[in-house]
Amino acid sequence: MQHIPVALDRCIALLAPAIELCESPIIVDATLGLGGHSKELLSRYPNLKIIGLDRDLSAISIARENLTEFGDRIVIVHAVYDEIAEVLSDMEITNVEGILFDLGVSSMQLDVAERGFAYSQDAPLDMRMDQSSGLTAGEILNTYTHQQLNRILWQYGEEKFAAKIAENIIKARSSNSLNSTKDLAEIVKNSIPAPARRTGGNPAKRTFQALRIEVNQELEVLKRAIPSAIEQLAVGGRLVVMAYQSLEDRIVKSAFAKVTESGTPRGLPVELPDRAAKFAFVIRGSESATEAEIEANPRAQSMRLRAIERIAA
Ligand SMILES: C[S@@+](CC[C@H](N)C(=O)[O-])C[C@H]1O[C@@H](n2cnc3c(N)ncnc32)[C@H](O)[C@@H]1O
Repeated sequence: MQHIPVALDRCIALLAPAIELCESPIIVDATLGLGGHSKELLSRYPNLKIIGLDRDLSAISIARENLTEFGDRIVIVHAVYDEIAEVLSDMEITNVEGILFDLGVSSMQLDVAERGFAYSQDAPLDMRMDQSSGLTAGEILNTYTHQQLNRILWQYGEEKFAAKIAENIIKARSSNSLNSTKDLAEIVKNSIPAPARRTGGNPAKRTFQALRIEVNQELEVLKRAIPSAIEQLAVGGRLVVMAYQSLEDRIVKSAFAKVTESGTPRGLPVELPDRAAKFAFVIRGSESATEAEIEANPRAQSMRLRAIERIAA
């Protein structure tokens, strides 16, 4: 499938005022992927430098190729995005004009069957974004207890039939270890009552989401990454985040609410200057993709876009 960057023009419009603030602006693309957003930003702003992070080595090698024309205006780092502060400090950069997070998996990760992200294609149960480290989905399915499996399916997949699916995973692995996405999809299908199977799309979707989150520790990493990214912004700098599922969006929403809230005690008629919020919403609440974009790029359907700006040091 062709990769179409989501909300490309909108993200650039949100970052533009921050980029235009100084002569040598720096943006961190925390989820470089195939470099779609970075490429357009670098093309539009000849004075811009981007530091692009990704935990996936295959994404990095494709991005490197896609962005060669920009030479040293793009620095690509193999890192998890909760390491932004360390990456910047290693480069002796004290703050940046913008940071972009385009969360989740890329179209490339979904399209390469062997990565094991897609329930529609038979493949080994891997699901690691960084294939150089960590437990695979297969290792989790074959070793976690019923209680652990139940918890991740319930919490990360919001799966009503988590307990039954966990029970059937344990049963299946007692005769043979679970190795393929097809086996897992079949177990999920057989754990769900027939009427529930007929609604809400493929029943394996929630289980695959839950496992992907557990394999990559996605929520824990994001909970650390957003507050740390916020700290790296220069005054006038902007943080723009696109989330594709509600668990991630909730983390972003709550981190943004915390830093945009005034510390002046309620009831005082004037804002205490030293308690005023240092960040302000650029978007009140969240934005979704337009109907036209969703039609052209169905992946944009579940996207929620949020943005804040640092207004004081
Ligand atoms: C939706 S894609 C980004 C697509 C990109 N904006 C583009 O236009 O090509 C998300 C990327 O973020 C990476 N990623 C996800 N979680 C990450 C994390 N915790 N740290 C670093 N990279 C991560 C994935 O490997 C994937 O390549």
